[in-house]
Amino acid sequence: MTLIFGIETSCDETAAAVVEAAADGKLRLRANVVASQVEMHRKYGGVFPEVAARMHIETIHAVAREALTAADVQPADLSAVAVTHGPGLAGSLLVGVNFAKGLALMWDKPLIGINHLEGHLYSLWLSEHADSLRFPSVCLLVSGGHTELILVRGHGEYTLLGSTLDDAAGEAFDKVARLLGLGYPGGPAIERTAREGDPNAYPFTLSDLGAERPYAFSFSGIKTAVMRAVQPQPAYGKRVRGEESLRAGNLREGVNIADAAASFQAAAAEMLVAPTLRAARDHGAAAIWLAGGVSANTYLRQQLVARTDLPVYAPPLALCTDNAAMIAAAGCFRYAAGQRDSLALDVLPMLALV
Ligand code: KG4
Ligand code: ZN
Repeated sequence: MTLIFGIETSCDETAAAVVEAAADGKLRLRANVVASQVEMHRKYGGVFPEVAARMHIETIHAVAREALTAADVQPADLSAVAVTHGPGLAGSLLVGVNFAKGLALMWDKPLIGINHLEGHLYSLWLSEHADSLRFPSVCLLVSGGHTELILVRGHGEYTLLGSTLDDAAGEAFDKVARLLGLGYPGGPAIERTAREGDPNAYPFTLSDLGAERPYAFSFSGIKTAVMRAVQPQPAYGKRVRGEESLRAGNLREGVNIADAAASFQAAAAEMLVAPTLRAARDHGAAAIWLAGGVSANTYLRQQLVARTDLPVYAPPLALCTDNAAMIAAAGCFRYAAGQRDSLALDVLPMLALV
């Protein structure tokens, strides 16, 4: 039996977890502790990097202790310490990586650096569908910082099929939520508000990315369309520049926020679904996987399921957004594959999956 202690601090969640891997490779989540900083960042309308790093420092020790206690394991029982070392905010990553190095040294256990994006992918191995996962599969990885279509050919074997040309999907949800005065984080707020709205009320047409980019995504066009539809028109001759015009909650009279949220969500989902189905078909995928914070979106899940005969697998809702369970899960596979990192392990804020 392998027991991995996982740590995640790449953005605004301070998290620790313990995952057990049986000899047959089956994973079991023993403890999953997440201390969210969302209340603190809400007043800034997004993550404030300096504040995030300081809050990780204040919280990480308690979070790690709680995970050990909840898992009911002694440090001596652990096989290794796995930690996110990129991509993410440099200051935030440093807290987790240095803390993990301290633990590895104190407990005399190997250290394993994990790519946060690979972590999101391995949250699927903690789902009820773990036994059904087959290669090759196409994974739509949608988070606050990334929107990528990945062909997963085997454990740790990835081909990047396409990615976003501008905003990440989660970033678009967050910006549009801000525009509609729905607050931060935007994804859950849009989803909640959209339930009361008509997805066909506003025809937010999608950017045509052309046949030469069949697996690419773009959200800037939809974002601008929402802005045009819901904001007061600028006075004649006054130029409004991109992000500046994303003023929170400055809405034109008569705008139906629920309709706007539902129409945006429908357009964003369509932008994600079409290239994913194309990629799955073109690459003979056994299944479509969803991962990352935006994979918590029920509308997106339903759209994918409705439009394909392939199985669609997504992580449990609690493991879609950032957590350390997924880092420990990826750590189990990396440990089995023999990965061991030295105490010189560095943070890599721009680390890519492929
Ligand atoms: O994976 P994640 O926790 O952090 C990153 O690695 O970026 O993803 C966070 C993103 C945020 O942009 C958030 O608005 C979005 O995931 N998100 C959602 C939902 N829940 C979280 N987007 C749409 N619908 C949701 N239910
Ligand atoms: Zn993430």
